[in-house]
Amino acid sequence: MIRSALMTVMTAAAQKAGRGLKRDLGEIENLQVSVKGPGDFVTAADKRAEKVLFEELSRARPGYGFVMEEGGTVEGTDKSHTWHIDPLDGTTNFLHGLPLFAISIALVREDQIVAGLIFNPGTDEMYVTEKGQGAFLNATRMRVAARRKLSDSLIACGIPPLARAKHHPLFKQEFAALLATSGNLRRLGSAALDLAAVAAGRFDGYWERNIQSWDVTAGALMVREAGGFVSTADGTDDIVHGGSILAGNEYIQREMLAAIKGIG
Ligand code: IPD
Ligand code: CA
Ligand code: CA
Repeated sequence: MIRSALMTVMTAAAQKAGRGLKRDLGEIENLQVSVKGPGDFVTAADKRAEKVLFEELSRARPGYGFVMEEGGTVEGTDKSHTWHIDPLDGTTNFLHGLPLFAISIALVREDQIVAGLIFNPGTDEMYVTEKGQGAFLNATRMRVAARRKLSDSLIACGIPPLARAKHHPLFKQEFAALLATSGNLRRLGSAALDLAAVAAGRFDGYWERNIQSWDVTAGALMVREAGGFVSTADGTDDIVHGGSILAGNEYIQREMLAAIKGIG
């Protein structure tokens, strides 16, 4: 467990926003069968959750800046601290009534990720981490999986949707390379939960391109604090601005990088 004042603030904000999302998930089943579908409702749920997070975190830490998926960037008076927030990661799952989505909150200090939280209100799984303090799923300390061979490993990925079809050619090449070298592949639909699952030793690795800081900053610290390795898909270190991610234990992360090297 992490019992810092910072983590108390982060978990309280996530639980409050999560209660709203859980309630809204219940509504979706009803809307699924309507002609209009749940699209607008989901957009409103997403914005409501972000508003709760913004208000709670601003109140507890006045002056910190924000980078949010819905509300964009809000400059703070404290230039060294920024929250990176996705109030609803896994929107497509949520829209379809699948309880595989999460709130993701990271605190970045001077370009270093110092704290991360990923909360799935659908399953009540709360993943938390602070730099140097380890990573926890509810009360249990997490460790990345110990598999040493990519060919034995279960690897998660993200698939660009039709609206971003211009990314399909590169995705298909990298997917083919990992299909040919890993044990098998999965697509969960939430980048934050993909990284949380790597930290928890459930997935052996995960990679995705065209990703934003709010999708991966919390999860990247979580994997590192669970003993894993994280880089961009090109092998560089800057997760906050890098736009892609590749994670696993020491062996799997290295083998995955080698498998897709030179494709992009
Ligand atoms: C998306 C999810 C998905 C990933 C996409 C993200 P959203 O976030 O994390 O798994 O493949 O790249 O944009 O839109 O559900 O917040
Ligand atoms: Ca997201
Ligand atoms: Ca989102």
